[in-house]
Amino acid sequence: MINVLKSYKELSSTVADIVEYQIQEEPLTKLILPTGSTPLGLYDELVNRELDWKHVITFNLDVYLMNVKHPESYQSYMKKNLFDRTNIYPDHCHFPFRPFSAFEDKITNSMGIDLCILGIGSNGHIAFNEPGSSFKSRTRVVNLSEQTIKDNSRFFDSIDDVPKQAITMGLGTIMESKRIILMANGNHKLNILNVAMNGEVTEDVPASILQNHNNVEVYYCD
Ligand code: F6R
Repeated sequence: MINVLKSYKELSSTVADIVEYQIQEEPLTKLILPTGSTPLGLYDELVNRELDWKHVITFNLDVYLMNVKHPESYQSYMKKNLFDRTNIYPDHCHFPFRPFSAFEDKITNSMGIDLCILGIGSNGHIAFNEPGSSFKSRTRVVNLSEQTIKDNSRFFDSIDDVPKQAITMGLGTIMESKRIILMANGNHKLNILNVAMNGEVTEDVPASILQNHNNVEVYYCD
């Protein structure tokens, strides 16, 4: 179930092939997108392929609760790494917003997500659904775990600058996607990836819910 690729370049281009094919087959594609270090190569690949994003609609998995103009906000990240480098319409790029039911309705009214790209946290989170999150969870405010704050401190000047809360899509929201791709990069992710994909399906390991989805692919490189 875990596809092991030779390099980060291959991981990025393999997933870019999937996104490219999806957009070419269905110009009106609805995507769920992640941030973090793992998809940076994917976004570079996609930009270099000069796809037509005119009709594509995106939903980001999560946002920190922080000033959106901050360079480390996920809104800034997406503009810098993907949106400002393609012809996507800013109005088609959605981030979780309040009221959360309206955000969820926006996803539902878009006739469903064709492709959801995920990363995985070192504690098994997907989006910011930390261990213990309900498998039925929907978009909501969450407290980030100590582990996530520590992991993400590498993007900030100091650990004290890392936001402590976020808005995340729920596990229930993610699972409604028609197709899901999980990307993981680095040896430090291998153990949790194995636990999530081959171990018990439990809310203690949020990514293990993916074992219950019938159209999931996992791509890993060390
Ligand atoms: C970010 C997100 C997170 C990350 C995960 C891995 O939008 O949804 O679940 O995918 O924390 O982050 P990296 O890729 O930085 O290791």
